[in-house]
Amino acid sequence: MPLRQLDGKTALVTGASSGLGRHFAGVLAREGASVVLASRNGDSLLQACGEIQAAGGTAEVLVLDVTDVASVERTLAGAEPFDIVVNNAGISGEGSAMDIRPDVWQQVIATNLTGVFNVAQATARGMKDAGRPGSIINLASILGLRVAGHLAAYAASKAAVIQMTKALALEWARHDIRVNALCPGYFETPLNAAFFADDAGQALLKRVPQRRLGRLSELDGPLLLLASDAGSFMTGCELVVDGGHLVSSL
Ligand code: NAI
Repeated sequence: MPLRQLDGKTALVTGASSGLGRHFAGVLAREGASVVLASRNGDSLLQACGEIQAAGGTAEVLVLDVTDVASVERTLAGAEPFDIVVNNAGISGEGSAMDIRPDVWQQVIATNLTGVFNVAQATARGMKDAGRPGSIINLASILGLRVAGHLAAYAASKAAVIQMTKALALEWARHDIRVNALCPGYFETPLNAAFFADDAGQALLKRVPQRRLGRLSELDGPLLLLASDAGSFMTGCELVVDGGHLVSSL
């Protein structure tokens, strides 16, 4: 087999039981990384892991709630240090800003922002202690750079992830740990499938310059750029993959 770009690397992907995270785990495994798939849901995690193994990849599962800092520390402190961490777990918490309940607001921030920090901190400590370089990729969104209705908590959490990514990149460059934010536009997953099936979703797609949803495979190149040595001089960046959505005409 020809040398693959992530041969010999270990990778952690949070939220790997579905959607983007499940896809990312498969892409990293295909490129040779030994992948740990983490999420709250044991059954779908096992299924995702089994698919990777069936395709010849190396994978295992870790049941982990990113919002539970004690469990993140406990679980990851015992793990081998990772070379690549994809901080992908996230929730949308839709609702009008007038009506959103405090517990929903808090859960979005706890998952999308604090959860990303919890995992980044625990894994960066492992990289530093082992004296190994690493790449941490935080899933932000174009909603961290612009806004849409009924997603105030989500947009705020993703904007904060982008700024946090830059702060961590600044602090951890001395340890050879790169930290970057991947900002996808709209890709169809269970998080948004119902929305894009109806008229409002279809109308939204007409405002995307490329006039369509992204295909998951269109995130492979950007993910691997940040994960591999191809991006060795990239840290603190926000990499937008959105079919031109952010540059849609005002
Ligand atoms: P999804 O709902 O399909 O997957 C989310 C994953 O996160 C699931 O595996 C879920 O179990 C896990 N998760 C949620 N809370 C968790 C917790 N507390 N601890 C551990 N795991 C938890 O969603 P999707 O669409 O795949 O989104 C993945 C990431 O990509 C999210 O951060 C999302 O904000 C981001 N994103 C998605 C876009 C899209 O078009 N689908 C666009 C831009 C960003």
